[in-house]
Amino acid sequence: MPKLEFREVGKSFVSPDDNKGTLTVVDRLSLAVEEHEFLSVLGPSGCGKTTLVRMAAGLIPVDVGEILLDGVAVTNSSPKVSMVFQNIGLMPWKTVWGNVALGLELLSHRSLTSGEREEVTASIEMVGLRGFENYYPYQISGGMQQRVGLARALVRKPTVLLMDEPFGALDAQTRAILQDELLHLWRERKCTIFFITHDLDEAIYLSDRVAIVSRRPGRIKQVLKVGLPRPRYAYDARADPEFVRLRHLAWESIKEELSRL
Ligand SMILES: Nc1ncnc2c1ncn2[C@@H]1O[C@H](COP(=O)(O)OP(=O)(O)O)[C@@H](O)[C@H]1O
Ligand SMILES: [Mg+2]
Repeated sequence: MPKLEFREVGKSFVSPDDNKGTLTVVDRLSLAVEEHEFLSVLGPSGCGKTTLVRMAAGLIPVDVGEILLDGVAVTNSSPKVSMVFQNIGLMPWKTVWGNVALGLELLSHRSLTSGEREEVTASIEMVGLRGFENYYPYQISGGMQQRVGLARALVRKPTVLLMDEPFGALDAQTRAILQDELLHLWRERKCTIFFITHDLDEAIYLSDRVAIVSRRPGRIKQVLKVGLPRPRYAYDARADPEFVRLRHLAWESIKEELSRL
């Protein structure tokens, strides 16, 4: 059974402009993410990627079709699922520690037990932020803020991690480092990752499979299997003929969608 499955999912939004009716954003989209898989979704801006993640997280309902988590329809947010965004949404008035603790507080709606407090500290350590527990978001770099977002997601011990362009705002080196750290955490935690990006290299480097979504309304256009061995090494992997071949295929596919917008 797939870990996360989109079955003929459709979603439309009512246009804020009364006379323009509805906008179909996702159209009968089907995709299955296997347990422990790292699957990336690539697609042109506006094709419905964020909408897909928000539906999978149970934040907004599907209109038609269904999304299954462990074979059960997603209707609400689940403690088994964590989300990480590009705009990490840290609370500016909370410290690094406080922001990571929020990951658990929002699940239980009570103050944390001592065991949970240890989990918070362990998560902060896991993303390399030991020593920065008492810093506020404005006192740390963008890369470190993204690590806080990741720690906040991981502290819940999710079995599925939904990531919506999490590294989009970072400089190239910080992004490369966080990509490797994410792969490391993924291996260690053995979770399933559903990763949205518009960066071809990032998608290929990280993933077991890359799903390419068509322009709006989004449907799965093509799924590429990434045959690169793991562990992968940032700049070496990119020079591998298999990487070059996949990048070519992915770019041809995406380019077609962009030119038809
Ligand atoms: N709550 C909403 N109300 C109306 N339109 C929306 C809403 N959310 C997203 N959209 C529209 O859906 C389309 C897809 O958005 P989104 O899923 O954010 O795309 P992507 O993440 O692929 O760039 C866009 O045209 C956007 O304007
Ligand atoms: Mg988006």
